[in-house]
Amino acid sequence: MKIGVLTSGGDAPGMNAAIRAVVRRGISLGATVYGIRRGYEGLLDGDMFPMSVDSVGDIIHRGGTILHTARSARFMLPEGQDLAAARIRGAGLSGVIIIGGDGSLRGMVELCKRGVKAIGIPGTIDNDIAYTDYTIGFDTAVNTGVEAVNRLRDTATSHERIFVVETMGRHEGHLALAVGVAGGAESILVPELPVNIDEVCEKLKRGLDRGKVHSIIVVAEGAASGFDVAKQIEECLGMELRVTVLGHVQRGGTPTAFDRLLASRMGAKAVDLLASGQSNLMVGVSGPRLVATPTPEVLAVKKALDLDLYYLAQDLAR
Ligand code: F6P
Repeated sequence: MKIGVLTSGGDAPGMNAAIRAVVRRGISLGATVYGIRRGYEGLLDGDMFPMSVDSVGDIIHRGGTILHTARSARFMLPEGQDLAAARIRGAGLSGVIIIGGDGSLRGMVELCKRGVKAIGIPGTIDNDIAYTDYTIGFDTAVNTGVEAVNRLRDTATSHERIFVVETMGRHEGHLALAVGVAGGAESILVPELPVNIDEVCEKLKRGLDRGKVHSIIVVAEGAASGFDVAKQIEECLGMELRVTVLGHVQRGGTPTAFDRLLASRMGAKAVDLLASGQSNLMVGVSGPRLVATPTPEVLAVKKALDLDLYYLAQDLAR
């Protein structure tokens, strides 16, 4: 067996732990594992190399991805997908493991349509992929966001200020919601629900009337710009706010133990599925168990925001 592994789209902490698991499980099963550099972009260039047990030593704790990653415009085109499938066949790979978010999984389905055997592993800080409770990197990004909120809380309290914290999450609010709840934010704004600044201001006013002079508003980048939100609140409250945009800081850093465990389990499982002749599946986690779901089915469903958690946050943050 000769298999390939690549990471694609936005990097996520824990991707390295997944690569390590793929390489070492593959070698345990007698396979040669090829690392493909720079995601689909590198695949199109035939940029791949055999990986040894040692090549993945000392990476389990590192953020980012040692294979590098890219958002490949060339691969979006049918001709690019044809060429990528040809590269896989030309290299004699019997299968590939794709670690990435929804765009990467969509690319994988295109490869499978062209006769490639592939298994997907969900790796994105956004946790916006259905048929898995968690994606690799989400837990780390939540903890990074909460750590930032903790720090901002210190200065918000000291200066008696209201802060707006903008998290990553272009289309979905899972990350902002988790950061907001765990960080004790007064309001959380997500793309899935209407942004109601009047409601945010009313809540802040009630707090101010009670003598509460510091507050944290968490906003997902996909819901609104943190600066716009702050400006609107400033206008209605007549006071100055401060804004922190977490941006790519939230995507880096050493993965949490949770993400390392998840990535290790998913990486090994993906190899096992390929070795047993399966294809076009995505590995997910459901409670304590790993599950495998046909990737087209995964992509047909939009993961719903946990509304119970959202309403709990509204009730608890006052
Ligand atoms: O999908 C992961 C993610 O970090 C999103 O949360 C964010 O909107 C996007 O990637 C940023 O992408 P880029 O690194 O290409 O700017």
